[in-house]
Amino acid sequence: MIKTVKPFGKVNGQETYLYTISNDFLTAEICDFGATLIRLYYDGVNVVCGYDSVDRYILNDSYMGAIVLPNANRIRDARFTLNGKEYHLRVNNGPNNLHSSLPGGSAQSIWNVVSYSETELTLQLDYKDGELGFPGNRSFKVTYALKDDRLSITYCRISDQDTVFNPTNHSYFNLNGHGTVLNHILQLNCSHTTPNDENSCPVGEIVEVAGTPFDFREPKAIGRDIDVENQQLEYGKGYDHNWLIDDFDGSLILAGELYSPETSIALQTYTTMPGIQVYTANYLDNDKYSPRDAVCLETQFTPDAINLDNMVKPIIKAGKPAVHITEYRLYKKES
Ligand code: BGC
Repeated sequence: MIKTVKPFGKVNGQETYLYTISNDFLTAEICDFGATLIRLYYDGVNVVCGYDSVDRYILNDSYMGAIVLPNANRIRDARFTLNGKEYHLRVNNGPNNLHSSLPGGSAQSIWNVVSYSETELTLQLDYKDGELGFPGNRSFKVTYALKDDRLSITYCRISDQDTVFNPTNHSYFNLNGHGTVLNHILQLNCSHTTPNDENSCPVGEIVEVAGTPFDFREPKAIGRDIDVENQQLEYGKGYDHNWLIDDFDGSLILAGELYSPETSIALQTYTTMPGIQVYTANYLDNDKYSPRDAVCLETQFTPDAINLDNMVKPIIKAGKPAVHITEYRLYKKES
């Protein structure tokens, strides 16, 4: 077992740290800046993209590995109404708000480590009423825990006012450790998706995936249909869409599986939340990574659900603790 804490570089003069947790199956390295998953090793392969020092995460507009909350993904026109009051967020993605805020959001803050063991790390971040534009004095705790072949992420929140709670982890997976993911095989237990407008924000429709490039009910290479002529794929420059998970009931259920025939590594995603954003890293383009070198499997509520009456709304009640769980299970698949 490895349990180490190493400096990871300074942010505004304050040191950040990299915490390692491990068991017989998995080793994860998590930075307190952004509560970011920096590396995740399974069978000798680092299956998430990441960088070697915190500097690369400071203006992390790809949100690589970070915990995003209170609200993941987009809120149309950066505003919503709750209990008759209108709230305004930062406009940071076209006319919309994306991932709550940048800079200053959960992905760009140093979280407090509240407990740490060989297999578990819990981090906390608090916001005052109105901070980032959302109501409520809020306390968030995120626990990364290794449970056999699973990395479990538990998101807990308590607020003194009704507010929005739609957290995600924004890891970029590559089950070969490098190169394109177009050869990865994806399967999703999702019969419906929520089409976007040109700013990648859902328009409020729910459509069947049958007969479209969005049908991953049977396992299919990510690259098979990604470049077919399709307005939705043009809008996203590839997949950058939310699927509704079949049989969602708030319990921890299997959303789907990613598999690489090259390494035989498979990754299952379980969640208590209603949707999954599949994003094929279409805007990731720098000295280390190119577009489509990774796929994000962001478990979350439907983007903009707070403004859409036909979606499950990510609202939590004052004083009532709320919990969401996501688990990533890694295993070797016989082909
Ligand atoms: C969004 C993408 C965005 C990426 C990085 C994803 O969750 O859907 O449109 O480029 O995050 O911010």
